[in-house]
Amino acid sequence: MSQKKRLAIFASGTGTNFEAIVTACESGRIPAEVVLLVCDKPAAAVVELAARHGVETFAFQPKSYPSKADMEGAIADRLDKAGVDLVCLAGYMRIVADTLLSRYGGRIINIHPSLLPAFPGARAVEQALNYGVKVFGVTIHYVDQTVDGGRIIAQRAVPYEGHDLDELFTLVHAAEHELYPATVARLLAGEV
Ligand code: GRF
Repeated sequence: MSQKKRLAIFASGTGTNFEAIVTACESGRIPAEVVLLVCDKPAAAVVELAARHGVETFAFQPKSYPSKADMEGAIADRLDKAGVDLVCLAGYMRIVADTLLSRYGGRIINIHPSLLPAFPGARAVEQALNYGVKVFGVTIHYVDQTVDGGRIIAQRAVPYEGHDLDELFTLVHAAEHELYPATVARLLAGEV
């Protein structure tokens, strides 16, 4: 029997995507286990969520490291120690750089709330709404040295012709919470 794959999730905030992946693992929809939360904001709500689900957390203050390379080295050491197969970024508000990419490149994926390559970077949903977009969406992609520019794995369109940002966020999040676990499951099954 094959061993369950081991996931790490990196998050900085609320953690709704973290919870979507964790509950999909708990219910068997993803044949894997979330073994580590990596969080650069120790007071973030996602830390509490991880505790509730019994997920080990590595929460740190970025300023406590002399350099980004040192910080990423410490993260990669924790990933090694936990035997992580795949890293899922879920609202991790930092750019992944050389140290992590050299050790985990090709094994890091991200979710972004737009139909990339449109609207990379921060505040993608607001940017798209201000632009007058009528079909919003969500992208799962590999992480490389670019900002939201790695190879696309999956996308889901979210049609919306209104003007209410909160309503739009609700629709985008709902799409994310379906697409991210489903894509992780397909990746682990070798289907993408
Ligand atoms: C999501 O919209 C995701 O696409 C973006 O950050 C947000 C994280 O939300 N990268 P949450 O913390 O998972 O609720």
